[in-house]
This record gives sequence, structure tokens and C-alpha cells, in this order.
Amino acid sequence: MQNLNTTSMQIRDNRLWILDQQKLPQEQSWCATDTVADLVDHIRTLRVRGAPLIGLTASLLLGLLAEQGMRRDLLRTALAVLREARPTAVNLMNNMARMAAALDRDDYAAAMVTQALQLVEEDRGLCLAIAGHGVGLVTPDSRLLTHCNTGGLATAGIGTALGVIRHAAALGKVRQVWVDETRPLLQGGRLTAWELGELGIPYQLICDAMAAGLMARGVVDAVWVGADRIAANGDVANKIGTYSLAVLAHYHGIPFYVAAPHTTHDPHCPNGESIPIEQRPAEEVTGVSGSFGSCRWAPEQAKVDNPAFDVTPAALISAWVLDTGIITPAMAAAGVFRQGLTAADR
Ligand code: MRU
Repeated sequence: MQNLNTTSMQIRDNRLWILDQQKLPQEQSWCATDTVADLVDHIRTLRVRGAPLIGLTASLLLGLLAEQGMRRDLLRTALAVLREARPTAVNLMNNMARMAAALDRDDYAAAMVTQALQLVEEDRGLCLAIAGHGVGLVTPDSRLLTHCNTGGLATAGIGTALGVIRHAAALGKVRQVWVDETRPLLQGGRLTAWELGELGIPYQLICDAMAAGLMARGVVDAVWVGADRIAANGDVANKIGTYSLAVLAHYHGIPFYVAAPHTTHDPHCPNGESIPIEQRPAEEVTGVSGSFGSCRWAPEQAKVDNPAFDVTPAALISAWVLDTGIITPAMAAAGVFRQGLTAADR
């Protein structure tokens, strides 16, 4: 397979390499990922994370395995296993549908390589299109609040919500970004802060619990988040804590924008209640671990609820900024998300 290089994944010497997002920002460590078991483990432990990136790495690995001569029946099993790696981000299922169609072809090895590379290329374009549409919604001198990580680490391109922020900053429209640390796994504190630092975009890191106070002080002009799945009524699953921000933004009269590619849309899910929400290990809440070591602060036997995502109802969303354009609440209410924006039918 031809070499490829993005912020968080590479194809080098016919191998898939992923930037270990657990180790950021302390270390930039690249892991060669040669097997389905390795990639599933990377995805479940969030070394690879972010809705678009999960689907893209799974597609690239399948392309590499096909090129190495893996039998068609084994590729089918590999695809099925990868598809189950995480349940909420529908990009994975949509990408696997495209790879399954390539696997059905007579020239499946070449077709899977081509399809995987095309998905990566498409994602780059989707990010740019989202940023192009979203930048017009950013008012001059904005103080923007974002949650989790939606940047180059989570996609093949410049990111979704963070891509909009990046374009707006390049046009001088961003005074600063408020970065929610994003408990429990700190994708904001570790990853978004790192990306914004690398890009030279001014930011201040906050604990998730500080957003309400900032909004009350009038120092947040808009909230920008990504999505893991957009249901047919416009409800959005995204990193846990997103719903709280939407409620707060609504109360304070602050615009709340969701930026995502059409590969995040799932017309087969009628509403947010039907989106499968991943439940994660208790240890992520009872303590913290990383390349610095680990520490537990809660009693060992503490019972924990740890959903990775929550659902923001469509009624709290000011606009959905997709690669296909801006969806207004009126368009969502008229059923635009019921019609299916995705090319792939799962
Ligand atoms: O658990 P994660 O880190 O994979 O969650 C990621 C998010 O919730 C992102 O906001 C979403 O996947 C969009 S990334 C462009």
C-alpha cells in the first residue's frame, strides 16, 4: 500500500502505524499495528480514538491484510470483529459497509486497498468542507468552548469542530478557546490542548465543571462539539458531558454547534434513545492512569457508572455543520436527517 501520513496514523513500509493517544502529550510514540487483535485493543483502550479515525484505521488494516493475501473468509471475520470494536461511533459501521462491498468484488484485494485509501482521502475533504461551512458561523473575536478532541488526532484531516475553530483562527476570528478537560479520560486536557498548542491557537484549559460559571460571566460566545452518531431526528451522541454543555448553553442563550461529516449520520437510528452507548471500565472514574503512572482515589469497591457518551436532544442544537452544508433546526424538524445523508446503506 502506498505510504500515507496524517496527524495520528501512517502507512509506512506496508504497515499501519498509529500515534498512541494514551501517551500524549508526554510522549509521541508510534505503534506498528499488524493484527486485528492489536487494533481492537488500541481502539478499546483509546490509543486510537475519535469517530472518523476508528473507522479509517480499521479500513486501512483490512486493506493491508487483503494485500498480504489473507483469504476472503478470514477477511470477512476480521471485518466483523473490527466492526464490533466500539459501539457508538457509526463511522466505523459505515466504513465497514464500504469495505464489505469491496470484499465482495472479484478483485477484492486491490479493491479493498483502493477503498481504504479513498476513505482516508474523502475524510480529509469532509473535514475541509465542514470547516468551510462552519467558519461563517463564528463571529469576530470569539471565545469558543469545545469538548473532548475533534481535531487532526480524531480524523484524517484538520478535524471537525476543531477544524472549524482552526479555520476561524486563521481568519483572525478567535480570541481564545476554552478547552474542557473532558473527564474521565481527559481528551480535552491531553489532546485538544496539545493540538491547539501545536497550532499556536490561544486556549485556556478548564475543568468540565467550570463551564457554567464561565457562561454566567459572559465569556463564552459559542460552543462547538463533534459527534459520534447523529440520529434520524437530529439527536446527537457525543462524549459524555456534551449534553450538560448543551443545557447550559441553552440556559445562557449561547449558540451550540455540532460539527460532523455525513459518515456520522445514522438514518437507521430513529432518535437518541436508540443509539448504543458504550459503558467503560470503572477504573477510568475511580482514578487515573497514563504514561506518568497510575493513581486510585476512590474506594476499591466503589460502584461506578461510566457511559462514554451522552445524547444531546436536537432541540438544544443551534445548527449541525456537516460537509454537505449547514442544517438548521427547521430543516432538522422537517426531517432532513430521516432522508439519509450517508452514501453507504448498512
Ligand atoms: O471516546 P472518544 O475519545 O473516541 O470520543 C470522541 C468524541 O466524542 C468526539 O467528539 C467524536 O468522536 C468526534 S471526533 C471528530
